[in-house]
Amino acid sequence: MKNILVTGGAGYIGSHTCVELINAGYNPIIVDNFSNSEKFIVDRIEEITGQKIQLIEGDCVDERLLLSKLKDIKLEGCIHFAAYKAVGESAQQPLKYYQNNIGSLVSILSLLEKMKCPNIVFSSSCTVYGQPDQLPVVESTAMKPAESPYGRTKQICENLLEDYYNSGKGVKALALRYFNPIGAHPSALIGELPLGVPNNLVPFITQTAAGLREKLTVFGNDYDTPDGTCIRDYIHVVDLAKAHVASIDYLLSQNKSLLDHVNIGTGNGNSVLEVIESFESVNGVKLNYEIGSRRDGDVEKVYADASYAQNLLNWNTELSLKDALKDAWKWQVSLK
Ligand code: UFG
Repeated sequence: MKNILVTGGAGYIGSHTCVELINAGYNPIIVDNFSNSEKFIVDRIEEITGQKIQLIEGDCVDERLLLSKLKDIKLEGCIHFAAYKAVGESAQQPLKYYQNNIGSLVSILSLLEKMKCPNIVFSSSCTVYGQPDQLPVVESTAMKPAESPYGRTKQICENLLEDYYNSGKGVKALALRYFNPIGAHPSALIGELPLGVPNNLVPFITQTAAGLREKLTVFGNDYDTPDGTCIRDYIHVVDLAKAHVASIDYLLSQNKSLLDHVNIGTGNGNSVLEVIESFESVNGVKLNYEIGSRRDGDVEKVYADASYAQNLLNWNTELSLKDALKDAWKWQVSLK
């Protein structure tokens, strides 16, 4: 079986990707320091797939640790998820974000070079576009200044990959620009585990419906959109996970150095109110919400043109917004 190093493999997107890697016949090796994830998730991946997972507990900025743990292993590829991702916190603690998000990419690239493994999939974000002038967003859409230090670390990491590619070391790299991942594995054994009060819409909805939060505040209904609330491209996390498997397949099929950027979204935009209505109708649950003021730094609308991913990776989304909201709720209920 081909070994794929998965940094942050116990995290939200990482854990779903490990499941899909195993389903596709790969052997994921997880490195995680559990700073924003839980160890039991690794057991759950094993439970879903029936396969034992090799786990390296530690920080992926620690290149020496990884080299020592991986010295007898032939690595075929790496999916580098590990990063901090809280937009608000990044404005309060920018150094933490620069050090971890950029430092970990530097040490992972250096590790892969030493291990003679050229294949890397990097977790980027549609946040690199800022508020784009053009919708849907294509990969060549001009980038605007990032709205947060978090967003800037993603832009810098993309630049870093470009410099590294240009240095002629033979890297084969895909930067996947995720839109808004939501939902959970249909088994309800793994899903998102937000630390403290959730920043993101769907975990806030499910926690409110579960009675853990009193009400959801919709951040603004005076945007220039049909119902006045912001529009995003919400993608089921299982579809997103499968895009990583398709990316690894693609990199392994290529024999020349490459660097490419790929939008991973559904191509559909949905407003906050549409998400709420859809959640209520698919789950038969009433949600307590109110309209509040705008949140700083929110982009009015952003959704992907996903055709490049479809052509390059031979990948397409299979699940709907309703599937994702049903699975998110099933996961929330399972946590009780
Ligand atoms: N929203 C609310 N109320 C809430 C939470 C969110 O109305 O309590 C709204 C937001 O204003 C936004 C939409 O729901 O319009 C989605 O918000 P999220 O926080 O779920 O997602 P964002 O699009 O703001 O952010 C996500 C990721 C970031 C990433 C960004 C762009 O969480 O990591 O996409 O890629 F930077």
